Amino acid sequence: MPTLTIQTLSTSYPVVIDEFLHNDTCIISQSKALIVSNPKVAGLYLHKVLPKIQAQEVFVCIVPDGEEHKNMQSIEQILQCAFANRLDRKSLMIALGGGVISDMVGFASGIFERGISYVSIPTTLLAQVDASVGGKCGVNNAYGKNLIGLFHQPSAVYIDKEFLRTLSTREIKAGLAEVLKIFVCFDEQAFTKLEMLESPESKDAFLDSSALLPLIQRSIEIKAKVVEQDERESGIRAALNYGHTFAHIIEMQTHYKRFLHGQAVAIGIAMANTLAQQLGSLSAAESKRISTLLARFGLDESYHIDDIEAFYQAFFLDKKSHSNKLCFILPEGIGGFSLRDDISKEQIIACLQHYAR
Ligand SMILES: NC(=O)c1ccc[n+]([C@@H]2O[C@H](COP(=O)([O-])OP(=O)(O)OC[C@H]3O[C@@H](n4cnc5c(N)ncnc54)[C@H](O)[C@@H]3O)[C@@H](O)[C@H]2O)c1
Ligand SMILES: [Zn+2]
Repeated sequence: MPTLTIQTLSTSYPVVIDEFLHNDTCIISQSKALIVSNPKVAGLYLHKVLPKIQAQEVFVCIVPDGEEHKNMQSIEQILQCAFANRLDRKSLMIALGGGVISDMVGFASGIFERGISYVSIPTTLLAQVDASVGGKCGVNNAYGKNLIGLFHQPSAVYIDKEFLRTLSTREIKAGLAEVLKIFVCFDEQAFTKLEMLESPESKDAFLDSSALLPLIQRSIEIKAKVVEQDERESGIRAALNYGHTFAHIIEMQTHYKRFLHGQAVAIGIAMANTLAQQLGSLSAAESKRISTLLARFGLDESYHIDDIEAFYQAFFLDKKSHSNKLCFILPEGIGGFSLRDDISKEQIIACLQHYAR
């Protein structure tokens, strides 16, 4: 299976798509290694991954599971583990888990003694196709999602779809929202292939489908190209936030509990499409194609906006808003997108009204 190389201005690293769990891959640290996971993933996979680490000493740090623990307290816990076990600047951190773990390990390793290396072993579909690649790492706080963080690229990423066997169907569906997001913005052909993919409802058939791995690979390839062009999100990388401007508010308003990130993204995609349709950049037929696929993946959850003005004001906390100008990523048909900062409050409110009825 292929190894993709991600090339940024400062570094380059491999994303290896292979049978990591069942081959003889070793993760090598010149000094110590600290593997970070949560109780659920560690219980399933730590014993399989530990023998693959070659280091002077290997330490394990288990942080609590869940988006609500993607915060400074968990970062502090990881740093405590690193200091207590005297990791040095040549030591390596290893993320074993979903996007929450890879985001936190990227961040903790990026600030520990001004930055040490980390390797990512993503165990959810969402983390494999999106979160583990590209070096954006952050945690949430009371003001919103991912508001504290930095850019820190991993030194390698190992992707094995076998991890997904133990993942719930709900989580797999949430990961598909990010795949769909990437294809809508960048690749109509891949979107068409996604429409033909096995439904995740029967998990084994879905995971055994020969179409799955090429689609995971395609997602990563596109993300790699985007990151190469715009590591720090000053332009094209913002397209990966399609649906997210809305989703982050939904997640915040529901206290990160009601929806998985990917489910919120799917609702956000539907909202962005409503706005795009209003502005004429997406036809009704294209919008329908996207919503049909979301429904097939079980991602057609509804959301009721109680207070339109409060929802609107929450946009201003978004990192993509500059000098009080809101910025939305909207699809231009399927396979294209535009960054729009010229949308009036009235137009945005008209879009939100669809969800307030
Ligand atoms: N940095 C980025 O570019 C980027 C991109 C997209 C998303 N993200 C972030 O990723 C996070 C979401 O990631 P996620 O969806 O992977 O959530 P997650 O990390 O919370 O994992 C979801 C759940 O699945 C469990 N789990 C993980 N792997 C498993 C496995 N193989 N078998 C059984 N259970 C398993 C976890 O313990 C958790 O309960 C969000 O915080 C989001 O902001 C970051
Ligand atoms: Zn996302």
